Amino acid sequence: MTRPVDAVIEFLEAEKARGVSHILIDEEARDGLRELYIRAVRGVPVGAGTSRPEGTETSAIPAQAAPAVVSGSGSKVERLEALRRQAEKWPPARSLGTLRETMVFATGNPDAKIMLVGEAPGYQEEKEREPFVGPAGQKLNDILKAMGVSREEVYISNIVKFRPATPRQTTNNRKPSPEEMTVCLPFVRKEIEIVEPQCIIALGGTAAEGLLGLSGAVGAMRGHWHQFNGIPARVTFHPSYLLQSGANLSVKRQVWEDMLAVMEKLGMAISEKQRGFFLPKA
Ligand code: URA
Repeated sequence: MTRPVDAVIEFLEAEKARGVSHILIDEEARDGLRELYIRAVRGVPVGAGTSRPEGTETSAIPAQAAPAVVSGSGSKVERLEALRRQAEKWPPARSLGTLRETMVFATGNPDAKIMLVGEAPGYQEEKEREPFVGPAGQKLNDILKAMGVSREEVYISNIVKFRPATPRQTTNNRKPSPEEMTVCLPFVRKEIEIVEPQCIIALGGTAAEGLLGLSGAVGAMRGHWHQFNGIPARVTFHPSYLLQSGANLSVKRQVWEDMLAVMEKLGMAISEKQRGFFLPKA
């Protein structure tokens, strides 16, 4: 079986072949490498839990050796590109055998103030190799338009970088498992570190769980501010929830109030018309 460290070695060799002579390894990556080293010395198999103290787990995502994700050096674009190349062949994701082959990484502006994080790519996203281009993506575009921002101005990513597989899969999609989230999480975390958004929007429960360690109903997570490594984060309903027939005006208004809060946080101009979107008619 390929080990996570093989991905790091392969990545470093590819960078060296491209003429890169220096790689930035931050604290998180250093910890991951240290963990891999300790495991190798002790003969602990990859995938066994870490020695995290009991009771410190905040979500259902299993504790696992944090794979060492390194993101190269240079500009934001170069670092994101290095990360994308590393994710493409990521052995911890490949070795699960439950994710499909095609990677869908992220889209948008590396200098974005707003970063939106979803769950995992679906049928359409896999086909176009871009997050949020299917029906949920159209809904997300509508939300962004109502805010007065374009898709190109923001950065859009997912917790899981591959479409979760199902038997005899056609256009059907499924929610990623905790293991699938665990193996992909280092990437979205590193993307946040590189992009340095001023605000993160977690779209739905999977993103809230993966990024913020929250569990339970999205209705209880939304409506107030959270933090991800010091960055203000807002949880709201996933755009696909708005597409469901049960999504009434009140749900639309709740999502919109989360977006108004983001706009206020960023000091964006808000018109009276915008403030009144999705309010019941008097
Ligand atoms: N749903 C998501 O969470 N992400 C996508 O990219 C598409 C649909």
